[in-house]
Amino acid sequence: MIQVENVSKRFPKTQADAVQPTSFTVAAGEFITILGTSGSGKTTLMKMINRLYEPTTGTIYINGQDTRQMDVNVLRRRIGYVIQQHGLFEHWTVAQNIATVCQILKWDKAKIAQRVDETLRLVQLDPDQYRNRHPHQLSGGEQQRVGIARALAADPDILLMDEPFGAVDAVNRATLQDEIQQIQRQTHKTIIFVTHDIDEALKLGDRTMLFRSGVIQQFATQDELFLQPANDFVADFLKVHDQVTQWRYIHAGSLVQTWQAAAHTPTIDPVAADQPLAVVVEHFLKAPATSVTVVDVPHQRCGELTLADLARLAEAPSC
Ligand SMILES: Nc1ncnc2c1ncn2[C@@H]1O[C@H](COP(=O)(O)OP(=O)(O)OP(=O)(O)O)[C@@H](O)[C@H]1O
Ligand SMILES: [Mg+2]
Repeated sequence: MIQVENVSKRFPKTQADAVQPTSFTVAAGEFITILGTSGSGKTTLMKMINRLYEPTTGTIYINGQDTRQMDVNVLRRRIGYVIQQHGLFEHWTVAQNIATVCQILKWDKAKIAQRVDETLRLVQLDPDQYRNRHPHQLSGGEQQRVGIARALAADPDILLMDEPFGAVDAVNRATLQDEIQQIQRQTHKTIIFVTHDIDEALKLGDRTMLFRSGVIQQFATQDELFLQPANDFVADFLKVHDQVTQWRYIHAGSLVQTWQAAAHTPTIDPVAADQPLAVVVEHFLKAPATSVTVVDVPHQRCGELTLADLARLAEAPSC
């Protein structure tokens, strides 16, 4: 678990805090994403967690331990760090790059070789094909994969990822997103992931934090952000009033729960609670009906949605 308590950062010779006093908690095994405008303090916040920057005020605890009391090298080995420009050493092979932290920890050769192959497989690269290549012999997406493998090699509990897929094309980016999601499910790492891409943030994050001028605007689940945006900035940033956006991002089950829609007689096939509203709209278009039943897994009715409910959503005040 990561607890950030009243943490702020003021760089020397500057007039304002890059990060204003900020508090939040990330549970062990949680995947959180951070969105925000450029210069809003996202990277600064991340770098305070692994002490690349020391906070000006406040305290960060990892599993209850004050990070200031920890040896900084020990702390950084427990936290994998992935950045946009992968940061691989060009004159080292893929295997040597991945082994960096394991070497520092003085693991024996056989254990390191085994771990290099394991992490390469984890990021979907065939060890026999890739371990002896140099970074310039890899595509951008492959370089990012090796960067992730390196961050995972010493099996840290926490991964900090600062726009890791920012320089990767859309197709490879979608694949990498699926892979990091898969890795997180397999390894239960706690992940903090910064991105400029709203789709990416919402797809990957159990919760998403919206940052502006060094201040958290809202830190919530996708449905909470869209159904209860904290302020106009959040509403505008995510376009929560745009109907197609609502249909895409709000899950049918959340809307039923939020409004506790009245019961109607179901007339067409039910929609699963974890489907976006777009699927509900599709149902109405396919077969005219007064309402669509929303069911939870396994097939328990949790409520009804009508076309009027969807229209009401467009009119609902944001905050
Ligand atoms: N070493 C530094 N010295 C002085 N000011 C800094 C330093 N690093 C960052 N800043 C300032 O702190 C603010 C936050 O920067 P930060 O890099 O955290 O933003 P960011 O949200 O990561 O932006 P981006 O999305 O562009 O990466 C900016 O105004 C930046 O100019
Ligand atoms: Mg940044």
